[in-house]
Amino acid sequence: MNFKRNILITGGAGFIGSHVVRLMVNKYPEYRIINLDKLTYAGNLANLNDVEDRPNYRFVKLDICDFEQLYALMQELRIDGVIHLAAESHVDRSIKEPFTFARTNVMGTLSLLQAAKCYWESLPEGFTGKRFYHISTDEVYGALEFDDRLFTEQTPYNPHSPYSASKAASDHFVRAYHDTYGLPIIVTNCSNNYGPYQFPEKLIPLFINNIRLRRPLPVYGRGENVRDWLYVEDHARAIDLIFHAGKTAETYNIGGFNEWKNIDLIRVIIKTVDRLLGNPEGYSDELITFVKDRAGHDLRYAIDSTKLQRELGWEPSLQFEEGIEKTVRWYLDNEAWIEQVTSGEYARYYEAMYHDR
Ligand code: NAD
Ligand code: TYD
Repeated sequence: MNFKRNILITGGAGFIGSHVVRLMVNKYPEYRIINLDKLTYAGNLANLNDVEDRPNYRFVKLDICDFEQLYALMQELRIDGVIHLAAESHVDRSIKEPFTFARTNVMGTLSLLQAAKCYWESLPEGFTGKRFYHISTDEVYGALEFDDRLFTEQTPYNPHSPYSASKAASDHFVRAYHDTYGLPIIVTNCSNNYGPYQFPEKLIPLFINNIRLRRPLPVYGRGENVRDWLYVEDHARAIDLIFHAGKTAETYNIGGFNEWKNIDLIRVIIKTVDRLLGNPEGYSDELITFVKDRAGHDLRYAIDSTKLQRELGWEPSLQFEEGIEKTVRWYLDNEAWIEQVTSGEYARYYEAMYHDR
Protein backbone atom coordinates (compact mmCIF):
# COMPACT_ATOMS: atom_id res chain seq x y z
CA MET A 1 0.00 0.00 0.00
CA ASN A 2 1.24 3.47 -0.86
CA PHE A 3 0.85 5.92 1.99
CA LYS A 4 0.62 9.68 1.58
CA ARG A 5 3.08 10.19 4.44
CA ASN A 6 5.35 8.00 6.58
CA ILE A 7 5.52 9.43 10.06
CA LEU A 8 7.87 8.19 12.74
CA ILE A 9 6.60 8.72 16.29
CA THR A 10 9.16 7.94 18.99
CA GLY A 11 8.05 6.96 22.50
CA GLY A 12 4.63 5.84 21.26
CA ALA A 13 4.18 3.13 23.84
CA GLY A 14 4.57 5.61 26.70
CA PHE A 15 1.94 7.90 28.18
CA ILE A 16 1.64 10.90 25.83
CA GLY A 17 3.10 9.07 22.83
CA SER A 18 0.38 6.39 22.95
CA HIS A 19 -2.30 9.09 22.78
CA VAL A 20 -0.56 10.75 19.82
CA VAL A 21 -0.21 7.42 17.98
CA ARG A 22 -3.87 6.53 18.62
CA LEU A 23 -5.09 9.93 17.41
CA MET A 24 -3.00 9.84 14.22
CA VAL A 25 -3.69 6.20 13.32
CA ASN A 26 -7.44 6.82 13.66
CA LYS A 27 -7.55 10.26 12.06
CA TYR A 28 -5.21 9.66 9.11
CA PRO A 29 -5.73 6.23 7.47
CA GLU A 30 -3.76 7.65 4.52
CA TYR A 31 -0.61 8.02 6.68
CA ARG A 32 1.60 5.18 7.82
CA ILE A 33 2.34 5.70 11.52
CA ILE A 34 5.52 4.04 12.73
CA ASN A 35 5.81 3.80 16.50
CA LEU A 36 9.47 3.48 17.55
CA ASP A 37 10.09 2.63 21.18
CA LYS A 38 12.71 0.82 23.24
CA LEU A 39 10.00 -0.28 25.70
CA THR A 40 11.72 0.71 28.92
CA TYR A 41 9.81 0.26 32.20
CA ALA A 42 7.67 3.26 31.05
CA GLY A 43 6.67 1.82 27.67
CA ASN A 44 3.95 -0.76 27.35
CA LEU A 45 2.37 -2.09 24.16
CA ALA A 46 -0.85 -2.71 26.11
CA ASN A 47 -1.30 1.08 25.84
CA LEU A 48 -2.07 0.59 22.14
CA ASN A 49 -4.04 -2.68 22.02
CA ASP A 50 -6.88 -0.93 20.21
CA VAL A 51 -4.81 0.13 17.18
CA GLU A 52 -2.19 -2.62 16.86
CA ASP A 53 -3.99 -4.41 14.01
CA ARG A 54 -4.57 -1.35 11.85
CA PRO A 55 -3.02 -1.49 8.36
CA ASN A 56 -1.51 2.00 8.79
CA TYR A 57 0.23 1.20 12.09
CA ARG A 58 3.59 -0.42 12.63
CA PHE A 59 5.68 -0.92 15.78
CA VAL A 60 9.49 -1.01 15.79
CA LYS A 61 11.43 -1.83 18.95
CA LEU A 62 14.56 0.30 18.88
CA ASP A 63 16.73 2.50 21.08
CA ILE A 64 16.88 6.11 19.83
CA CYS A 65 20.58 6.10 20.68
CA ASP A 66 21.23 3.56 17.89
CA PHE A 67 22.10 5.92 15.02
CA GLU A 68 22.91 3.21 12.44
CA GLN A 69 19.59 1.43 12.92
CA LEU A 70 17.65 4.70 12.94
CA TYR A 71 19.24 5.79 9.68
CA ALA A 72 18.53 2.41 8.04
CA LEU A 73 14.92 2.51 9.25
CA MET A 74 14.33 6.00 7.89
CA GLN A 75 15.61 4.91 4.47
CA GLU A 76 13.66 1.67 4.45
CA LEU A 77 10.35 3.28 5.48
CA ARG A 78 10.92 6.58 3.63
CA ILE A 79 10.18 8.64 6.74
CA ASP A 80 9.14 12.21 5.94
CA GLY A 81 8.03 13.39 9.37
CA VAL A 82 9.30 12.76 12.89
CA ILE A 83 7.37 13.42 16.10
CA HIS A 84 9.85 12.85 18.89
CA LEU A 85 8.50 11.98 22.34
CA ALA A 86 10.83 9.18 23.51
CA ALA A 87 12.57 10.25 26.69
CA GLU A 88 13.25 9.44 30.27
CA SER A 89 10.57 11.56 31.90
CA HIS A 90 10.47 11.22 35.68
CA VAL A 91 12.23 13.89 37.78
CA ASP A 92 12.70 11.61 40.83
CA ARG A 93 14.47 9.00 38.71
CA SER A 94 16.68 11.68 37.14
CA ILE A 95 17.94 12.59 40.61
CA LYS A 96 18.99 8.96 41.14
CA GLU A 97 20.21 8.10 37.61
CA PRO A 98 21.29 11.29 35.78
CA PHE A 99 23.47 9.45 33.24
CA THR A 100 20.47 7.53 31.87
CA PHE A 101 18.75 10.88 31.28
CA ALA A 102 21.74 12.40 29.49
CA ARG A 103 22.10 9.28 27.34
CA THR A 104 18.48 9.00 26.18
CA ASN A 105 17.34 12.60 26.21
CA VAL A 106 20.48 14.24 24.85
CA MET A 107 22.40 11.58 22.90
CA GLY A 108 19.20 9.87 21.74
CA THR A 109 17.77 13.14 20.40
CA LEU A 110 21.08 13.89 18.70
CA SER A 111 21.09 10.46 16.99
CA LEU A 112 17.57 11.03 15.74
CA LEU A 113 18.40 14.51 14.44
CA GLN A 114 21.49 13.24 12.65
CA ALA A 115 19.63 10.26 11.13
CA ALA A 116 16.85 12.55 9.83
CA LYS A 117 19.33 15.10 8.48
CA CYS A 118 21.50 12.49 6.70
CA TYR A 119 18.53 10.69 5.18
CA TRP A 120 16.65 13.80 4.03
CA GLU A 121 19.81 15.42 2.64
CA SER A 122 20.35 12.32 0.48
CA LEU A 123 16.99 12.81 -1.29
CA PRO A 124 16.62 14.88 -4.50
CA GLU A 125 14.06 17.18 -2.85
CA GLY A 126 16.17 17.55 0.34
CA PHE A 127 14.31 19.01 3.32
CA THR A 128 11.26 20.09 1.27
CA GLY A 129 8.06 18.67 2.76
CA LYS A 130 9.88 17.30 5.82
CA ARG A 131 9.33 18.07 9.49
CA PHE A 132 11.18 17.19 12.71
CA TYR A 133 8.92 17.93 15.66
CA HIS A 134 10.49 17.76 19.12
CA ILE A 135 8.25 17.49 22.20
CA SER A 136 9.62 19.29 25.23
CA THR A 137 8.49 20.45 28.63
CA ASP A 138 7.84 23.69 30.52
CA GLU A 139 10.39 22.49 33.11
CA VAL A 140 13.26 23.78 30.91
CA TYR A 141 12.25 27.33 31.88
CA GLY A 142 13.04 26.69 35.56
CA ALA A 143 10.84 27.58 38.51
CA LEU A 144 8.52 30.54 39.09
CA GLU A 145 7.83 32.34 42.37
CA PHE A 146 4.16 32.56 43.37
CA ASP A 147 3.85 36.13 42.05
CA ASP A 148 5.93 35.73 38.86
CA ARG A 149 4.37 35.94 35.39
CA LEU A 150 3.78 32.75 33.40
CA PHE A 151 6.43 31.14 31.16
CA THR A 152 6.28 32.47 27.60
CA GLU A 153 8.25 31.36 24.53
CA GLN A 154 10.70 34.18 25.37
CA THR A 155 11.45 33.01 28.93
CA PRO A 156 15.17 32.13 29.16
CA TYR A 157 16.06 28.51 29.88
CA ASN A 158 17.01 27.85 33.50
CA PRO A 159 16.62 24.12 34.24
CA HIS A 160 17.26 22.78 37.74
CA SER A 161 16.79 19.00 37.73
CA PRO A 162 18.84 16.47 35.75
CA TYR A 163 15.59 15.74 33.86
CA SER A 164 14.94 19.35 32.86
CA ALA A 165 18.65 19.94 32.15
CA SER A 166 18.66 16.97 29.76
CA LYS A 167 15.48 18.18 28.04
CA ALA A 168 16.93 21.71 27.74
CA ALA A 169 20.11 20.30 26.18
CA SER A 170 18.04 18.31 23.68
CA ASP A 171 15.99 21.42 22.78
CA HIS A 172 19.25 23.32 22.11
CA PHE A 173 20.47 20.54 19.79
CA VAL A 174 17.19 20.59 17.88
CA ARG A 175 17.39 24.35 17.34
CA ALA A 176 21.10 24.07 16.46
CA TYR A 177 20.21 21.60 13.68
CA HIS A 178 17.91 24.22 12.20
CA ASP A 179 20.35 27.09 12.54
CA THR A 180 23.37 25.10 11.31
CA TYR A 181 21.96 22.72 8.70
CA GLY A 182 18.51 24.14 7.95
CA LEU A 183 16.67 21.09 9.33
CA PRO A 184 12.92 21.97 9.36
CA ILE A 185 12.29 21.66 13.09
CA ILE A 186 9.57 22.71 15.45
CA VAL A 187 9.62 22.61 19.27
CA THR A 188 6.79 22.68 21.80
CA ASN A 189 6.98 23.05 25.57
CA CYS A 190 4.00 21.67 27.43
CA SER A 191 2.88 21.77 31.05
CA ASN A 192 2.18 18.70 33.25
CA ASN A 193 -0.11 16.17 31.55
CA TYR A 194 -2.62 13.87 33.22
CA GLY A 195 -5.04 11.21 32.00
CA PRO A 196 -5.25 7.48 31.14
CA TYR A 197 -2.09 5.37 30.56
CA GLN A 198 0.24 7.53 32.68
CA PHE A 199 2.76 5.38 34.48
CA PRO A 200 1.74 5.26 38.16
CA GLU A 201 4.95 6.79 39.51
CA LYS A 202 3.73 10.29 38.60
CA LEU A 203 1.61 12.19 41.11
CA ILE A 204 -1.96 11.72 39.84
CA PRO A 205 -2.01 8.00 38.91
CA LEU A 206 0.20 7.11 41.90
CA PHE A 207 -2.18 8.78 44.32
CA ILE A 208 -5.34 7.34 42.74
CA ASN A 209 -3.85 3.87 42.99
CA ASN A 210 -2.57 4.35 46.52
CA ILE A 211 -5.99 5.54 47.70
CA ARG A 212 -7.56 2.45 46.14
CA LEU A 213 -5.03 0.24 47.94
CA ARG A 214 -5.21 2.32 51.16
CA ARG A 215 -1.49 3.06 50.97
CA PRO A 216 0.05 6.32 52.27
CA LEU A 217 0.10 9.32 49.91
CA PRO A 218 3.65 10.72 50.03
CA VAL A 219 3.28 14.52 49.72
CA TYR A 220 6.68 16.15 49.18
CA GLY A 221 7.49 19.00 51.58
CA ARG A 222 4.33 20.85 52.59
CA GLY A 223 2.47 20.27 49.33
CA GLU A 224 2.84 23.98 48.48
CA ASN A 225 4.35 23.47 44.99
CA VAL A 226 2.24 24.49 42.04
CA ARG A 227 1.84 22.65 38.72
CA ASP A 228 -0.18 23.55 35.63
CA TRP A 229 -2.24 20.53 34.47
CA LEU A 230 -3.43 19.65 30.96
CA TYR A 231 -5.53 16.64 29.91
CA VAL A 232 -3.35 14.40 27.74
CA GLU A 233 -5.78 14.21 24.81
CA ASP A 234 -5.71 18.00 24.58
CA HIS A 235 -1.91 17.81 24.32
CA ALA A 236 -2.22 15.15 21.60
CA ARG A 237 -4.65 17.41 19.66
CA ALA A 238 -2.22 20.29 19.96
CA ILE A 239 0.63 18.10 18.65
CA ASP A 240 -1.46 17.05 15.64
CA LEU A 241 -2.36 20.68 14.89
CA ILE A 242 1.19 21.98 15.28
CA PHE A 243 2.69 19.12 13.26
CA HIS A 244 0.44 20.10 10.35
CA ALA A 245 0.01 23.87 10.73
CA GLY A 246 2.87 25.14 12.91
CA LYS A 247 5.57 27.33 11.39
CA THR A 248 9.01 25.82 10.86
CA ALA A 249 11.63 26.84 13.44
CA GLU A 250 8.97 28.19 15.80
CA THR A 251 8.39 27.31 19.43
CA TYR A 252 4.89 27.00 20.89
CA ASN A 253 4.01 26.70 24.56
CA ILE A 254 1.12 24.33 25.31
CA GLY A 255 -0.99 24.62 28.46
CA GLY A 256 -4.52 25.19 29.67
CA PHE A 257 -4.03 28.00 32.25
CA ASN A 258 -4.83 25.51 35.01
CA GLU A 259 -2.57 25.94 38.05
CA TRP A 260 -3.04 23.85 41.17
CA LYS A 261 -1.17 23.76 44.45
CA ASN A 262 -0.27 20.08 45.02
CA ILE A 263 -2.15 19.75 48.31
CA ASP A 264 -5.34 21.24 46.83
CA LEU A 265 -5.12 18.92 43.84
CA ILE A 266 -4.53 15.95 46.15
CA ARG A 267 -7.69 16.82 48.09
CA VAL A 268 -9.70 16.90 44.83
CA ILE A 269 -8.29 13.47 43.91
CA ILE A 270 -9.12 12.00 47.32
CA LYS A 271 -12.64 13.38 47.18
CA THR A 272 -13.24 12.03 43.68
CA VAL A 273 -11.84 8.55 44.42
CA ASP A 274 -13.80 8.28 47.68
CA ARG A 275 -17.02 9.33 45.94
CA LEU A 276 -16.58 6.88 43.07
CA LEU A 277 -15.69 4.04 45.45
CA GLY A 278 -18.71 4.81 47.61
CA ASN A 279 -16.61 5.78 50.66
CA PRO A 280 -17.87 8.46 53.06
CA GLU A 281 -16.49 11.98 52.45
CA GLY A 282 -13.12 12.45 54.17
CA TYR A 283 -12.54 8.68 54.47
CA SER A 284 -9.09 8.71 52.80
CA ASP A 285 -7.81 12.06 54.14
CA GLU A 286 -5.82 10.17 56.76
CA LEU A 287 -3.62 8.69 54.00
CA ILE A 288 -1.96 12.07 53.39
CA THR A 289 1.65 11.71 54.61
CA PHE A 290 4.05 14.64 54.44
CA VAL A 291 7.51 13.33 53.53
CA LYS A 292 10.98 14.78 52.91
CA ASP A 293 10.93 17.25 50.02
CA ARG A 294 12.30 16.37 46.57
CA ALA A 295 15.88 17.70 46.16
CA GLY A 296 15.80 20.99 44.22
CA HIS A 297 11.98 20.83 44.03
CA ASP A 298 10.80 23.53 41.59
CA LEU A 299 8.25 25.73 43.34
CA ARG A 300 5.92 26.55 40.49
CA TYR A 301 5.40 25.92 36.76
CA ALA A 302 2.79 27.84 34.78
CA ILE A 303 2.60 28.19 31.04
CA ASP A 304 1.29 30.97 28.83
CA SER A 305 -0.10 29.36 25.67
CA THR A 306 -1.52 32.57 24.18
CA LYS A 307 0.62 32.26 21.04
CA LEU A 308 -0.75 28.78 20.21
CA GLN A 309 -4.31 29.87 20.90
CA ARG A 310 -3.99 33.09 18.86
CA GLU A 311 -1.98 31.79 15.89
CA LEU A 312 -3.37 28.28 15.47
CA GLY A 313 -6.72 28.50 17.27
CA TRP A 314 -6.05 25.61 19.68
CA GLU A 315 -7.78 25.51 23.03
CA PRO A 316 -8.23 22.82 25.67
CA SER A 317 -11.48 20.91 25.28
CA LEU A 318 -11.99 19.77 28.87
CA GLN A 319 -12.67 21.56 32.13
CA PHE A 320 -10.34 20.28 34.85
CA GLU A 321 -13.14 18.80 36.99
CA GLU A 322 -14.31 16.78 33.99
CA GLY A 323 -10.76 15.65 33.17
CA ILE A 324 -10.06 14.51 36.74
CA GLU A 325 -13.34 12.62 36.91
CA LYS A 326 -12.57 10.79 33.63
CA THR A 327 -9.04 10.06 34.80
CA VAL A 328 -10.02 8.68 38.20
CA ARG A 329 -12.70 6.51 36.60
CA TRP A 330 -10.20 5.16 34.08
CA TYR A 331 -7.67 4.09 36.73
CA LEU A 332 -10.38 2.54 38.90
CA ASP A 333 -11.73 0.62 35.88
CA ASN A 334 -8.29 -0.51 34.71
CA GLU A 335 -6.73 -2.24 37.70
CA ALA A 336 -5.38 -4.99 35.43
CA TRP A 337 -3.38 -2.42 33.44
CA ILE A 338 -1.91 -0.98 36.66
CA GLU A 339 -0.98 -4.47 37.91
CA GLN A 340 0.65 -5.26 34.59
CA VAL A 341 2.79 -2.12 34.28
CA THR A 342 3.80 -1.96 37.94
CA SER A 343 4.92 -5.54 38.33
CA GLY A 344 8.61 -6.47 38.20
CA GLU A 345 11.21 -3.73 37.94
CA TYR A 346 8.91 -0.91 39.06
CA ALA A 347 7.77 -2.70 42.22
CA ARG A 348 11.40 -2.91 43.36
CA TYR A 349 12.05 0.74 42.45
CA TYR A 350 8.97 1.93 44.38
CA GLU A 351 9.97 -0.06 47.45
CA ALA A 352 13.45 1.49 47.32
CA MET A 353 12.08 5.04 46.86
CA TYR A 354 9.66 4.61 49.69
CA HIS A 355 12.19 3.12 52.11
CA ASP A 356 14.58 6.01 51.41
CA ARG A 357 12.23 8.34 53.27
P1 NAD B 1 6.81 8.29 29.37
O1 NAD B 1 7.95 8.09 30.34
O2 NAD B 1 5.45 7.83 29.75
O3 NAD B 1 7.17 7.57 27.99
C1 NAD B 1 8.44 7.64 27.40
C2 NAD B 1 8.53 6.57 26.32
O4 NAD B 1 9.85 6.68 25.73
C3 NAD B 1 8.38 5.14 26.85
O5 NAD B 1 7.52 4.40 26.02
C4 NAD B 1 9.80 4.59 26.78
O6 NAD B 1 9.86 3.18 26.55
C5 NAD B 1 10.39 5.36 25.60
N1 NAD B 1 11.85 5.44 25.66
C6 NAD B 1 12.61 5.80 26.73
N2 NAD B 1 13.92 5.71 26.41
C7 NAD B 1 13.97 5.32 25.10
C8 NAD B 1 15.04 5.08 24.19
N3 NAD B 1 16.32 5.21 24.58
N4 NAD B 1 14.74 4.72 22.92
C9 NAD B 1 13.44 4.58 22.53
N5 NAD B 1 12.40 4.77 23.35
C10 NAD B 1 12.66 5.14 24.62
O7 NAD B 1 6.85 9.82 29.02
P2 NAD B 1 5.65 10.83 28.72
O8 NAD B 1 5.16 11.39 30.00
O9 NAD B 1 4.71 10.22 27.76
O10 NAD B 1 6.45 12.01 27.99
C11 NAD B 1 6.65 11.96 26.57
C12 NAD B 1 7.44 13.19 26.15
O11 NAD B 1 6.71 14.37 26.50
C13 NAD B 1 8.81 13.32 26.82
O12 NAD B 1 9.72 13.80 25.87
C14 NAD B 1 8.57 14.32 27.94
O13 NAD B 1 9.76 15.03 28.22
C15 NAD B 1 7.53 15.22 27.30
N6 NAD B 1 6.61 15.90 28.25
C16 NAD B 1 5.96 15.17 29.22
C17 NAD B 1 5.07 15.83 30.06
C18 NAD B 1 4.29 15.07 31.12
O14 NAD B 1 3.60 15.70 31.94
N7 NAD B 1 4.32 13.76 31.15
C19 NAD B 1 4.85 17.21 29.93
C20 NAD B 1 5.55 17.91 28.93
C21 NAD B 1 6.41 17.24 28.09
P1 TYD C 1 5.32 14.64 39.05
O1 TYD C 1 4.03 13.97 38.66
O2 TYD C 1 6.50 13.78 39.37
O3 TYD C 1 5.65 15.70 37.90
P2 TYD C 1 6.80 16.87 37.84
O4 TYD C 1 7.75 16.67 38.95
O5 TYD C 1 7.43 16.62 36.51
O6 TYD C 1 6.04 18.15 37.93
O7 TYD C 1 5.04 15.55 40.33
C1 TYD C 1 4.06 16.56 40.33
C2 TYD C 1 4.17 17.31 41.63
O8 TYD C 1 3.81 16.43 42.70
C3 TYD C 1 5.58 17.78 41.96
O9 TYD C 1 5.52 19.06 42.62
C4 TYD C 1 6.12 16.73 42.91
C5 TYD C 1 4.86 16.28 43.66
N1 TYD C 1 4.88 14.87 44.09
C6 TYD C 1 4.60 14.54 45.43
O10 TYD C 1 4.35 15.42 46.27
N2 TYD C 1 4.61 13.23 45.79
C7 TYD C 1 4.88 12.23 44.90
O11 TYD C 1 4.91 11.03 45.29
C8 TYD C 1 5.14 12.57 43.53
C9 TYD C 1 5.44 11.52 42.50
C10 TYD C 1 5.11 13.92 43.18
